[in-house]
Amino acid sequence: MMRTLTTVEALRSQVSAWRSAGEGIAFVPTMGNLHEGHLQLVRHALEQAPHVVASVFVNPTQFGPGEDFDSYPRTLDSDQQKLAAEGVQLLFAPAVDTLYPGGTQATTQIEVPEVSHGLCDDFRPGHFAGVATVVARLFNLVQPDVAVFGEKDYQQLTVIRRMVRDLCWPIRVEGVPTVREADGLAMSSRNQYLGTAERRLAPQLYRTLCEVAEQVRAGQIPYRELESGAMQRLADAGFRPEYVAIRHAETLQPVERGELNARVLGAAQLGAARLIDNLGL
Ligand code: PAJ
Repeated sequence: MMRTLTTVEALRSQVSAWRSAGEGIAFVPTMGNLHEGHLQLVRHALEQAPHVVASVFVNPTQFGPGEDFDSYPRTLDSDQQKLAAEGVQLLFAPAVDTLYPGGTQATTQIEVPEVSHGLCDDFRPGHFAGVATVVARLFNLVQPDVAVFGEKDYQQLTVIRRMVRDLCWPIRVEGVPTVREADGLAMSSRNQYLGTAERRLAPQLYRTLCEVAEQVRAGQIPYRELESGAMQRLADAGFRPEYVAIRHAETLQPVERGELNARVLGAAQLGAARLIDNLGL
């Protein structure tokens, strides 16, 4: 039986009962509209601890002006069914006032340096402060031993790892590989913004990143030219590319030939959707 809690008090009393019994908690934060990618994180969490908490909260502070906060798909009933079917015990689905009692504007924020900057931040300024701020609140409430995030949002995963390290939280952050559609498109709640023709084109983002990875493996240089070539191919195909970047897998700094611990990351707009993807080299 899964319970859905919406208040801090109810969540705290369940969490403290588990903690005082010495029982571990794994946590999967989401914005809902759950798909197979989210459920893969849940399955991973279920293997990590006897208790799994999921959250569904569309976090206003990580959306920029003109982004899709108002239209973001909210499907709590079907999310509850999916989580219950996986065996999740507790869903935390708070209202905005509950996580932001002082309002969303003049509120304490978490700003993670370095890894929050560049890449997506160049196109969504302030996004990662919003993510870190809400995840910090959720970590303090849920008090997990393990927190599970997707590699699909690789910069986000890196920001969370850095925040947990910097703030000395005793939380193990686990990254789960990206779950894809049959044609390679990374699953995302935002894929439903794609029209039919755009949906057919969308897997080209992942294919382009795979081509860059192949070029790196084949020893082609310079990396900056591989990146701009990939951007051009995306633009020619009909995307509005934001970046294609070969970066260090932990620092997200640009790398040169010979660095083995690297990733190719990309973001592009296609119709009304903004798509991101990445892969390890
Ligand atoms: P959301 O986009 O709902 O994603 C929740 C989690 O699911 C994130 O860790 C994300 O990386 C993971 N995820 C999404 N699509 C995936 C896929 N195709 N394969 C594997 N994992 C996938 O990310 C957020 O919400 C928010 O920023 C949040 C962390 C909840 C803070 O508000």
